[in-house]
Amino acid sequence: MKLIVRGKAKLQGAFSVPGDKSISHRALLLGAIAAGETKVENCLVAEDVLSTARCLQQLGVQIDGFGTPSIIVHGVGGANLKQSDEPLDCGNSGTTMRLLMGILAAHTFESWLTGDSSLQKRPMDRVAIPLQRMGAKVEGRTERYLPPIRIRGGKLRPIEWALPVASAQAKSAILLAGLFADGTTLVHEPAPSRDHTERMLQAFGAKIFVKGLTVAVVGPAKLKGTTVIVPGDPSSAAFFLCAAAAIPDSEVTALGISVNPTRSGYLEVLEQMGATILLHNERTQGGEPVADVTVRGSKLKGVTISGDLIPRTIDELPVLAAIATVAEGITVIRNAQELRVKESDRIATMVSELRKLGAQVKELPDGMVVQGDSKLIGAEVQSHGDHRVAMALAIAGLLAEGETVIHDADCVAISFPQFPQVLASLGAEVELA
Ligand code: S3P
Repeated sequence: MKLIVRGKAKLQGAFSVPGDKSISHRALLLGAIAAGETKVENCLVAEDVLSTARCLQQLGVQIDGFGTPSIIVHGVGGANLKQSDEPLDCGNSGTTMRLLMGILAAHTFESWLTGDSSLQKRPMDRVAIPLQRMGAKVEGRTERYLPPIRIRGGKLRPIEWALPVASAQAKSAILLAGLFADGTTLVHEPAPSRDHTERMLQAFGAKIFVKGLTVAVVGPAKLKGTTVIVPGDPSSAAFFLCAAAAIPDSEVTALGISVNPTRSGYLEVLEQMGATILLHNERTQGGEPVADVTVRGSKLKGVTISGDLIPRTIDELPVLAAIATVAEGITVIRNAQELRVKESDRIATMVSELRKLGAQVKELPDGMVVQGDSKLIGAEVQSHGDHRVAMALAIAGLLAEGETVIHDADCVAISFPQFPQVLASLGAEVELA
């Protein structure tokens, strides 16, 4: 599928986005190992979360409402998953593979985890090494443990582990394994990453403590099924909020999105760039802060995004780079080497594709320098099979003169199948071909 956008229209209106991807994965996974039923409302229906649900079904978990936003997971109550005859296909989803590894580390049978060509390039060592320390046997390709992964778990010991990178997926995998170990597992992070696992474990009744950058979980834990109401995904809303920020006279409102501070770094960046951000209707939903967020556009200024802000903006960096091309002055993104091991090498892919639109962007080993005040001209660009690159390029296309064609755009279905429709509802000219 090709996504065609025509630039220069201002965006206006209120919109909803589907449920948060990270929270949806976790609700299914925790529901699977809890005792009793877990009800998931507003669960994301998109390829990545479907991968998690399918893997769980292969492992013997009954899931009612598969493929709809209203799900009931019948938990197996502890390390009672069943061995799958077939490899577990995690598709494009790093979250599925890494978090499942944490759970499978406590199961005595052998499992194979595989995925698509993108996932097979992503390192699993950040999870494999601590899980081996805990007592699981893990194999992968090369010393980086590239998938396919073979894992055989068993009785686990608690560990104290300092993560080399701020990664919520790695943190979560260790915490999930820690649920099954005898004693307290401690994870130290170099900077705060998203904390949905910690919040949700509390709701499922685990003993979990957070102090500064350290999380402790006490095992063996007995999780009890609960109801999870998933807030709107701030990473999906970010595409429209960033676009509106960069197009003067635009004003859009995202209804009911998570404003968890470990996810809302991009709103701080937009504010620093000169956009007006208003939060209304602030509330707590299932332990997560939620609000309606309005962004008003103006002429933006370039900024530096680095340090602790990086894990809090990690999935929004492609779209922030896209709007930085039309800000006044230079935007610098540093300390973001993690972007190189996402669904694509997002530093390389964004630099090469933004240049096709006429942007001046310099690639750095750990980020990029985006020259502002570019006059973008519509062009043919490639998603590289990466959903967030496809959507960020569509936003860049809105800032360009004329028509931009994003090739290989089916991948938006990984996290946000309704992206083109929501964009059109805000007044953008969008076409699918
Ligand atoms: C996610 C964590 C982040 C993020 C990814 C989802 C999660 O990855 O980029 O899209 O659900 O835990 P890392 O934890 O690897 O940084």
